[in-house]
Amino acid sequence: MRSDLTPDPSDLTPGSHKLWGGRFAGGPAPELEAVNRSITVDLRLWPFDIQLSKAWASGLGAAGVLRPDEVTAIREGLDRVGQRIADGEQPIQSDEDVHTFVDRLLHQEAGEPAGRLHTGRSRNDQVATGARLWTLDALAKLDAELKTLLQVLIDQAESQIDAIMPAYTHLQRAQPVSAAHWLLSHVWALGRDRDRLAAARRTASVLPLGSGAIAGSAFAVPREMLRAELGFERISPNSIDAVGDRDFIADTLYAITMLGVHCSRLAEDLILYGSSEFGFVRFGDAYSTGSSMMPQKRNPDALELARGAGGRTIGDLVALLATVKGLPSGYNKDLQEDKRILFQAVDLMGLLLPAVAGSVATLRFDRARMRAAVTGGLMATDLADYLVRKRVTFRDAHGSVGRLVREAEEAGVELWDLPLERFQAAHAEFSADILEELKPEKSLSHREIPGGTGLEAVKAQLRAARASIG
Ligand code: ARG
Repeated sequence: MRSDLTPDPSDLTPGSHKLWGGRFAGGPAPELEAVNRSITVDLRLWPFDIQLSKAWASGLGAAGVLRPDEVTAIREGLDRVGQRIADGEQPIQSDEDVHTFVDRLLHQEAGEPAGRLHTGRSRNDQVATGARLWTLDALAKLDAELKTLLQVLIDQAESQIDAIMPAYTHLQRAQPVSAAHWLLSHVWALGRDRDRLAAARRTASVLPLGSGAIAGSAFAVPREMLRAELGFERISPNSIDAVGDRDFIADTLYAITMLGVHCSRLAEDLILYGSSEFGFVRFGDAYSTGSSMMPQKRNPDALELARGAGGRTIGDLVALLATVKGLPSGYNKDLQEDKRILFQAVDLMGLLLPAVAGSVATLRFDRARMRAAVTGGLMATDLADYLVRKRVTFRDAHGSVGRLVREAEEAGVELWDLPLERFQAAHAEFSADILEELKPEKSLSHREIPGGTGLEAVKAQLRAARASIG
């Protein structure tokens, strides 16, 4: 707390550059400054703050607020500011946020015209615009990283198209499938995440600039011109909505959350299949870590982190929704939290996606182990289907095959090791061709239905997956 009431506005302290303060007798308490200061978080908006400020300068020129020479001075000054920040110029203590930082440097670079730039705009429409531009850029980068992961998965699927493995329900061996079919199952889920990123892009692609603090700018800045210069698809139709709307962040976080959830499921499959108990895959050296104690360990850390990170992305989505829920309309300072949450989630994904892609690319598949896990019991459904093809009802067939499964279990043998007589005793429709029917390859060949695991169906699926990633 300040111990005296002497007016000491911090905009009078050397080097300080506040965007507000005239109406206060004293400067803000250090405790307020500390909690209010967002530059450590929002500094990374600077390229977009500069971009939108240049557009705004031109807009003010078109509205007759700035003379052409002033527009030029500001635009060129902003370019120099960008160069200085790119070269490493750091904010000073009194720079409350990125907008203040850029504005302070602009005053140094452009002189008097700089003091005219903030005409008709507010940090409310400014930050909403900058955050949208940042989000559009981040969504494009995430999409490119996700596309790489999909490519890697599809390449691995192609290499395993004729490998047969068990598919699991309830994590119990269920039916034989092509290993490519399993890998592609993750491709479709992650492909839907690309659709969600694209949907977030559409919500983000709306220009708030021109909304001012809440009521719209009092100067006739052509917003269509701003939209075109900044590359937005649309302009916001309501200034009150525009400055308080963070749907684009919620949509981005939801897309990221689903992506995190899907990465966690892929990671879990791989971690499980890489265990000695399964042994279907082996993790590449470059994506395995050792243990400080147990020399034999080969740990899939990147995948475990991907599995764990799903939890953090869910937390980020909930944090944003909880911040926005119940806010009065328009801008409220609570919204400053949005960027911390958004950046955290995007940064996390930016780390995870390449690590997951690398883990997948360097996997080696043990076809023999996968094939060996396709035990006789997995053919039970095919046996029942065999009887159905002979006009037995599925109910009766299920009962007969169930008895055979029990017999094999009691005898400690695989289903296909039972003698033909046992099959015939279980149902009169079983004949010698049953041995052929008990081959896992045969099971796959019955499933050429679109979306099924038949070899031709999987090849078609592979082509569709490649086409879908563009
Ligand atoms: N740093 C602020 C934010 O991130 C910028 C907007 C400030 N607006 C205001 N009315 N104080 O939300």
